[in-house]
Amino acid sequence: MGRRTLRRIDPRIDLRGYLHVLEQFAVPYDMTSLFDHLAPLEIEVGSGKGLFLDTAAAQFPGHNYLGIEMARRYARYTAARLARGQRSNARILEGDAEQLFEQFLESDQVHAVHVYFPDPWWKKRHHKRRVMNDRFLRNVQRVLAPAGRLHFWTDVQDYYERTVERIAAATSLQGPEQVRERPVTHDLDYRTHFERRTRLQKLPVYRAEFVAPGMGPPRD
Ligand SMILES: C[S@@+](CC[C@H](N)C(=O)[O-])C[C@H]1O[C@@H](n2cnc3c(N)ncnc32)[C@H](O)[C@@H]1O
Repeated sequence: MGRRTLRRIDPRIDLRGYLHVLEQFAVPYDMTSLFDHLAPLEIEVGSGKGLFLDTAAAQFPGHNYLGIEMARRYARYTAARLARGQRSNARILEGDAEQLFEQFLESDQVHAVHVYFPDPWWKKRHHKRRVMNDRFLRNVQRVLAPAGRLHFWTDVQDYYERTVERIAAATSLQGPEQVRERPVTHDLDYRTHFERRTRLQKLPVYRAEFVAPGMGPPRD
């Protein structure tokens, strides 16, 4: 993400409680202990500026949202955003999502995984660095509860198509279900900062959802 686009964080904002550092956790670590209340857990991979975490946490107060972001300054920026909104059901972890899924998350623990506009790693020899690799996708399937959902959006057609293929080959997640573009009336109506940027440039966004096998808990 562009360096110049990040506003300075107000030093008076207390990030404690909102910002955590994965490297400081011992394995095993109970991620649910980061929240005030037990609730269905949703994970966002690569939260960037934190628009999704902030708006989803406000819209669905009965769910807990945990973002993981590798870049320290974005993790801090997101934490400040969550602190300003006093989002008791949202937290940001500074760290590597692949490590979080491999070592920390338990099986059948997660209600939804959100991956929006992951770094594309354009050069073919760098594709192996893409986060949506077979190992990570198998971990997504492992941590998702029955009927849990994987949301994957990107502006890179080749990344979209390869990921759909990888999911079919490496997991038993069902999909892709297509997701319709939502009309926007406000600058914060976009799901993420990158969605806003892509749509304002009139470029396509490729959106899909996948569902883990099994029956979810009964709805009220
Ligand atoms: C292209 S940006 C998209 C940000 C946001 N999802 C959006 O749509 O606006 C990708 C973000 O993922 C983060 N990232 C890349 N690999 C990661 C990893 N393995 N674990 C956690 N964050 C990662 C990057 O630091 C960057 O902030």
